[in-house]
Amino acid sequence: IPVSAFDLVLFGATGDLARRKIWPGLFHRFVAGQFDESSRILGVSRSDLDRETFQARVAKAIEDPTADKAQVAKFLELVDYISIDATGERGWEALANAMRPDTVRAFYLSVAPNFFGPIARRLERNGIATPDSRIVVEKPFGHDLESAKVLNAELRECFQEHQIYRIDHYLGKETVQNLMALRFANSLFEPLWNSSQIDHVQITVAESLSVEGRGEYYDHSGAMRDMVQNHLMQLLCLTAMEPPSKFTPNAVRNEKLKVIEALEPVPMQDIARGQYRAFGEQGSYLDHSSNPNSTTESFIAMKVEVANWRWAGTPFYLRTGKCLRDRVSEIAVYFRNPPHMIFPGTETPQGNVLVIRLQPDEGMTLHTTIKDPGPGGMRLTEASLDMTFADSLKDAEKPQDAYERLIMDVIRGDQTLFMRGDEVESAWAWADPIIQGWTESGAKPQQYDVGSAGPEDALLLMHKDGRRWRPIGT
Ligand code: BG6
Repeated sequence: IPVSAFDLVLFGATGDLARRKIWPGLFHRFVAGQFDESSRILGVSRSDLDRETFQARVAKAIEDPTADKAQVAKFLELVDYISIDATGERGWEALANAMRPDTVRAFYLSVAPNFFGPIARRLERNGIATPDSRIVVEKPFGHDLESAKVLNAELRECFQEHQIYRIDHYLGKETVQNLMALRFANSLFEPLWNSSQIDHVQITVAESLSVEGRGEYYDHSGAMRDMVQNHLMQLLCLTAMEPPSKFTPNAVRNEKLKVIEALEPVPMQDIARGQYRAFGEQGSYLDHSSNPNSTTESFIAMKVEVANWRWAGTPFYLRTGKCLRDRVSEIAVYFRNPPHMIFPGTETPQGNVLVIRLQPDEGMTLHTTIKDPGPGGMRLTEASLDMTFADSLKDAEKPQDAYERLIMDVIRGDQTLFMRGDEVESAWAWADPIIQGWTESGAKPQQYDVGSAGPEDALLLMHKDGRRWRPIGT
């Protein structure tokens, strides 16, 4: 469905995220016919570039052997460039003059958070932001509760909450939204979705990449701030939240907030932190980090309790890390075993497990127990109901990249898949004491091998509860 005509101003237009995600995403939506033809994209950065040089850079970013050259040329016609000093006065008047009346205005700040405030203020002061403009900000949204509050205050000085779009790109992923469809558009699962029927939930976001090239950022962040406080938290919220009464931005976000507020503090013994060590050609975390004595974690696993009526007694185990065996993101819901086994002599089957695969190979698998076929009596075995979305929906459009969807939602004015200010603050309020706990104790992360499933402590975290992690990769 086409969106209204817009003027999108992209700050940080020559940056890494813009090159890898935002420009290709915009181009794909343009090719899909979602743009009104009079829309424009104004790239902004500090560099002094002319329009042609900038367009050549954009052309490189959207380079794709399958792209239709005529479409690329048409897309580039929409692109212009203004050089602006984000913390000074240069360029703002030119931007003000470039904006058109009666067109949706969106300001995308693909820049470091310390620029959010200065840019927001200049947009307001120069009369560039209108009451209907949208402002989009990227993570990291602060590094603790205090800094997140400051960012929220700076943005709210100039924009109202309904204008602020805080991106967590995990919310733009196809399967993450499918989680809501699975739960709230089917009647099958919801009656079982509670602690009477579910033994525990495992949320895994495993990556095989190292932090090489991002050491400076990552070392001040670590897996907790980089992944858990935001991406895994969002997955946890969507899995655990109550059904919203309607699918509107605040109804959904109210329910997510309640989950975060119900999270118990996590004691140190329920956390396993790890750091990858060198292996063959692959350097260690310490080789990639900016600090040779770093105690930052590149892996974290933890047991989280959601203290409410639905979930008391059903732990959520979260784990994420770099340099692991495979790139796998999934949510695995372990149902309780049958209360009574009527098949004598058969081993207790592995209970039912519903696995929602976010990436790669998006889909769902429901592990079930069936009779082992053949004459050998009533022996049981495991079989799965398997659905890969790509196979089930052969004619469907290829899933969009998360950024494509999110940017179009900004233009449409739909905040459902964006984090609200109180949500972010609440997530930091939960994460801060956990980080403080290991910082104060001086605890060092345990080393793990590149290509493994993480440190030994992560296995023990499960074993002491008589449970096991699902394998990462094959
Ligand atoms: C980013 C993190 O937010 O998400 C990265 O900063 C991480 O460290 C990335 O690699 C993972 O995103 P995706 O979409 O590749 O799973």
